[in-house]
Amino acid sequence: MKKTSVVCIVLLAGLFHGCAPKDNIILHEKWPFPVGVAVPGARTNNGNLSVKTADALNTGSPQHKLLKHFNVLAAENEMKPYAIMPASIPSENNWSSSYNWIDADRLVSYAQKNSKLLRGHVLIWHDQTPAWFFQGNGTLGRATIEELYLRMENHIKTVFEKYGGTIAWWDVCNEVVDHTSGGPRQDSNYTRIMQDAGKLGSDRYEYVVKAFEWARKYADLNGGQNVKLFLTDYGIERRFPGEARSKIDEFEVLVKYLVDNNAPIDGIGFQGHFRLYDHTPEEIGRGIDRFSEVNGKKMMIQICELDISVYSNTKNEANNTDMSDDILKERLTDLAAFYREYFDMFEQKYREGKLDLVLIWGIADGHSWLNNHPVTDRTDHPLLFDRKYQPKEAYWVLVK
Ligand code: XIL
Repeated sequence: MKKTSVVCIVLLAGLFHGCAPKDNIILHEKWPFPVGVAVPGARTNNGNLSVKTADALNTGSPQHKLLKHFNVLAAENEMKPYAIMPASIPSENNWSSSYNWIDADRLVSYAQKNSKLLRGHVLIWHDQTPAWFFQGNGTLGRATIEELYLRMENHIKTVFEKYGGTIAWWDVCNEVVDHTSGGPRQDSNYTRIMQDAGKLGSDRYEYVVKAFEWARKYADLNGGQNVKLFLTDYGIERRFPGEARSKIDEFEVLVKYLVDNNAPIDGIGFQGHFRLYDHTPEEIGRGIDRFSEVNGKKMMIQICELDISVYSNTKNEANNTDMSDDILKERLTDLAAFYREYFDMFEQKYREGKLDLVLIWGIADGHSWLNNHPVTDRTDHPLLFDRKYQPKEAYWVLVK
């Protein structure tokens, strides 16, 4: 019997008994590449549901039993700088002992007990980092470049002294490039401090090279020779309609600068915050091709924060907060088809040796960050499980 018939029989049997069909087919087993998930932990509180239900490591959370579908885990928030760094600047000799690992360690020990691999998010990011990290004796109360570099090195060293080779992949730098100006991100204190120090043009990316050098050095010194180091961003997969120069072009400038300066980078993470109808799988596939080799250096691509909003700019819904039940029903079917097309394309890129991991940014719709972004308090449906933690059509098409 064909697999599709089996799925139909299972679905029909479930309906006949008046109960929803169960998610008995393990998602990651259906794909040749690892399929990961961002795990909401003690610090994750998106949407308007309780933190307790959001915290998937809490065995009482309805999300907990859905973790079985994924073989790679990333902390949605719990390994970010703000989550592990102290509230105020530590003294130089007290740096690592001031860190708080409680929430990050919960995920690490769950992963180890359940034979899951880990993806680290994130070492260096302008966002979700304590203010003190960027303050000091420089321009307008900002840190000088020397102060910043010392802290970056201390932070990276501290993380690798703690986790060594336990975490297989790390996002070393995230969201470095601006989405409008065609240069380094203007609302980043990293960029400001580089500019304060008189850096011009691409040399404003010097801190990114340093971050990769420190990450490689301290990973290697602590048994993490196999840890792979990634640069991640959003909107780098394609040229936007009507734009002469897109973020993808500046991202390429950055990656070339890293390669030319021998930064020890292993790959590029496309965040993959896509929207239905707006981001076609073909375009994303071309983006993967474009970055899988840069200036003669091979780069592994990972899709590291995949979710697909049902609100589409193509349909002028950028600011909408709701949609009718009829439209939603249609969207959920289209969403499923999109997920399948993306995954089929990912599989092709995997077979071409260009992509080796896909990670979905959240488990169930009710806890997705997209319920607050880019529009606060709107109900979105971007994931594989619904607000009642039941499998959506998108799940069924991916396990077929
Ligand atoms: C988001 C989390 O999902 C939210 O819970 C948090 O409030 C804000 O950050 N790009 C990233 C992620 O690199 O770290 C972001 O995660 C989503 C966008």
